[in-house]
Amino acid sequence: MHRDIRKVVLPVAGLGTRCLPATKVLPKEMLPAWDRPLIQYAVEEAAAAGIREVILVTAPGKEMLEQHFRPAPALEASLAARGKHDLLAQARGTLPAGVGIASVLQPEALGLGHAVWCARELVGNEPFAVMLPDDLVLADTPCLAQMISAWRETGGNMAAVEEVPAADTARYGILRVTGERGPLVAADSLVEKPAPQDAPSRLAIIGRYILEPSVLRALDAGKRGAGGEIQLTDALVDSMATTPFHGLRFAGRRIDCGSAAGLLEASVRIAARQPGMGEKIHAWLSRDR
Ligand code: UTP
Repeated sequence: MHRDIRKVVLPVAGLGTRCLPATKVLPKEMLPAWDRPLIQYAVEEAAAAGIREVILVTAPGKEMLEQHFRPAPALEASLAARGKHDLLAQARGTLPAGVGIASVLQPEALGLGHAVWCARELVGNEPFAVMLPDDLVLADTPCLAQMISAWRETGGNMAAVEEVPAADTARYGILRVTGERGPLVAADSLVEKPAPQDAPSRLAIIGRYILEPSVLRALDAGKRGAGGEIQLTDALVDSMATTPFHGLRFAGRRIDCGSAAGLLEASVRIAARQPGMGEKIHAWLSRDR
């Protein structure tokens, strides 16, 4: 049976503490990399992968994220009256054509697994994608599109993975690998944030998943895991008895934009692709003052 991934869940209800003070009031996902907020990169990547419905899992006080994708009548009227057609297209184009957006509240930041579970009614009984907007992936073929084409062959649950230094395993969910075929990695277990000596491999899950709806049932129990949070990783492990799990070594560069250093790296890398900007950046850095 040919199944398609039509929906993506974007969990954006976290507190963003690693980006304070910038995120005291401003949602982390509204921080810009170069010229657009992180959330917009995620929605653009999803649209490029054929997603038709975006589900934001938000928190009280983060309404700005929904607002970013709504029409802005006063701004649009002003730009139209002044004949600023390029800017008008920018203002109108935050939500790609043919994509719908809905949102649901996560009343309390109980963890990523809980955030995904909050979207269960909007997801319904079909496989879906999950993207964490603070993981920005620069790639020729968008990361989610790579995953969806691999998933069409494997089915089951899938996460994008990359090799991390041994010292960093405690920041990620890590795979216990049972086999590899090209860029696909089969795993029979995952460990959330293991110390380097306990890590079963150095293959870390990054913020891109394709999930069968059975994962939502595994989250029904509300089991608390590492850090007292309801972890998505635990639900994936619980599902492994019945549902195969694959990691996909995607082609591209992931940047963790949940920190000031990552945001700067993303801005510089994206800016450097604009005409003349690479030279400007070199000039700034080589000037004494
Ligand atoms: P992070 O742990 O990276 O985000 O969660 P955070 O909690 O916002 O950031 P720090 O660590 O305090 O700086 C990964 C993703 O999961 C979402 C976050 O918004 C982020 O996109 N998340 C996390 C939720 O939606 N709800 C939660 O309860 C936890």
